[in-house]
Formats: sequence, structure tokens, C-alpha cells
Amino acid sequence: MKKRTRVTHLPDVALPPDNRALVAPIYQSVKFSFDDVAETERYFHARRAGYYYSRVSNPTLRQLELALADLQGRDGCLLTASGMAAVSASLLSLLRQGDRVVHFAEMYQPTRTLIRRVLGRFGVTSTLLSIDDLAGLERTLAETSVRLIAFESPTNPVLKVADIERITALARRHGALTLLDNTLAGVHSHGHYDIDLFVHSLTKYVSGHGDVMGGAVIARAELIESMRAELGVLGPTLDPHAAFLMLRGLRSYFVRRDAQCRNAQRIAEFLSGQPYVERVRYPGLASDPGHELAARQMEDFGTIVSFDIAGGLAAGSRFAEALRLFAIAASLGSTESLVVAPAMQQPRELAPEQQAWSDITPGTVRLSIGLEDIDDLIADLEQALAQGQA
Ligand SMILES: Cc1ncc(COP(=O)(O)O)c(C=O)c1O
Repeated sequence: MKKRTRVTHLPDVALPPDNRALVAPIYQSVKFSFDDVAETERYFHARRAGYYYSRVSNPTLRQLELALADLQGRDGCLLTASGMAAVSASLLSLLRQGDRVVHFAEMYQPTRTLIRRVLGRFGVTSTLLSIDDLAGLERTLAETSVRLIAFESPTNPVLKVADIERITALARRHGALTLLDNTLAGVHSHGHYDIDLFVHSLTKYVSGHGDVMGGAVIARAELIESMRAELGVLGPTLDPHAAFLMLRGLRSYFVRRDAQCRNAQRIAEFLSGQPYVERVRYPGLASDPGHELAARQMEDFGTIVSFDIAGGLAAGSRFAEALRLFAIAASLGSTESLVVAPAMQQPRELAPEQQAWSDITPGTVRLSIGLEDIDDLIADLEQALAQGQA
């Protein structure tokens, strides 16, 4: 063969059966071939295992799917190119025209927009409640037919803790599915609750280093496999290299999470004693309204701390700009600490009553706590709080 043929038909290198790589190779291949048409057909009819086209399945993604499903206590997992793709693929797969979704004012804003604006265009109706209003949830379930309840715990950014046991019991009684965006609690949490679908932004704690985006839907295998064919036609597939970076992140997941939670607890305690801090929200504080429930329900108290700064929007911006170690940036769960100023997280698209449910005030600051030395972080917060009031 000539050189220009040889560069497209490279030599195969297979490891001997008793000789393994400790880190699995990245299957950075779009296509997988079979030796003959009959075997390809058998694969198509699910009569044999294998891989064919990476938009539908890929061995590197499969390794991550198995690991995440195991951590979340389920036997099925689907990976997507972002957390929002996991949320949208789940909702598009499970809902049809005329279905009603219950969701909450305290949820991640793009999820609310997806449910109300995008799915609304396709005839899906929705009811917005406060996650504190379980009596309202019970009334809604009794009065209308609800296909799905979508919620988060803890909520972002105010860290309200949802009562998962009560919500899932109500859902079962009324025949509604539950979808929990478990991003903030992490893939190791809440698996023992009767949740139908977990969704995660892997961009946060699984990646852990702020350099790759991804999402996951985790549920029982039967439900996941029925969704997989639809995901194939919707197309939000995770790239194998991104999956590899997630697998690498996963190896240090618990060590990072434990250290970040310890830092977050110390920071919440420090902020509680500060003069310009009006209210601290962190489930690990005994004074937090969600503390008792969080202590029963969560594996840890998380790595996000929010607080209301005296002086509202302007003081919040001055504070954020005065910080040296906390970057003004979106996202959370990476090794570095981040701040979201009040101006960047006002739920302006909600009606005034719904804004009140959200508990976000003009002074609400969200901190995502990283792995820096705790004394450096506290010193930085102390000097920035003083400057916020200048
Ligand atoms: C709770 C929650 N859900 C979903 C997402 C969306 O994740 P991604 O940015 O990976 O699409 C985020 C991102 O911040 C989030 O905080």
C-alpha cells in the first residue's frame, strides 16, 4: 500500500490479555466496525453487545456511566454534553402535550425557563410553587393531574433543603414522576430516596477542575434504556475526551468534596459573626432553617455558602470586586473559590410574590468554596467585607 493509504489505515496495537493499562484508553473514535454485515445487523437488533456510533454509545462513556450509576445507587445512566442537556433530554423524553409539571421558584433559573418557555410552546403546562410550600404541592396534586415534579435540594443559591421523603411520598400517592437535580448534593447523595430520575451537571464536582462540561441522567436501567434511543435523535452526546476528564476527576471526587465542605463550614461560621453580614445560609449551621433536615438527609452539608450583605446590590458588587481569591464567575464545585454578586442572581423574571418565595434578596451573595488554605480565604473575606461598606 502507498503512504497515503497507510496513514488512513494505521497499524493495530492490542495489549496481550494479561497486560492491562491502569487507566483505560480514551476511545476517541466516532465509529466502531464489525467484521461482517450479519454481525452489524445482530447489533442493531440488540442481539449482541458492541458499539457502532458514538452519538449513541461509546466505551469511554460506558465506563463513566457505570461508575456514576453505582455512586448514585441506580443501574442506569445516560451522559450528555452539559447539565442542561441532561435536564432537557429528560423532560423531552418523559413529557408530552397536555402534561403538567410542578417546579419551584428556588430552582436553577435556566430549568425554570426550559419548563415555562420552551416546553410551554409544545403544550406542556406548569405550576410554580415554593419548595417550602408542601401543602401547596399536595393541593396541586389533588386538584390536577401532574406527570412530573422537578426539584432541587439544596436549592441554588439560597440552599433551602427540600423534604425529599415527603415530596416522593406525595408523588407516589398521586402517580407523578420525580426528577431531582442533585447537582449541589453530589452523585454520592440521596440514592436511598424513592426518586425516579436524578440529573446532574458533571461540570461541577465530578469534573472538579472547571475545564470540562457534561451532564448525567441516572435512573433505573429500564427507564434509561428507553430514553437512550431518544437521546440518539436529540443528539446532545458527551465527547469521549470529556468523559475521560470526568473519569479522572472522579478519582479525587471524595477527597475534594470533603476538604471543600470543611472549608465551607468554617467560612459559614466565620461569616455568622461578621458585622456587615445580615443572614448566612448554610445547612451545616445549627441556626440554618434546613439544618435538622439536612443532618438527616444529606451525606455532607455541601460546598456552597450564601449570605446577605448589608447595603444590598451596591455593597454586594463592591464586596465581590474587593475579593482577591474568589473570582467573579459562574459555576461551582471546582478547586478554586468563586463569588456570584447579588446583581447577577436576582430572579427578575418571577412575579413579586414568587421572588419573595425564592428568598434571594438584593444583598444575596453566593460563594462557591474551593481548596485554598482556609486562613487565606477567611482573611480575604474579612478585608472585602470592610471594603463592601466603604
Ligand atoms: C443546580 C444546577 N443544575 C444544572 C446546571 C446546569 O449545568 P451545566 O452548566 O453543566 O449545563 C447548573 C449549573 O450551574 C446548576 O447549578
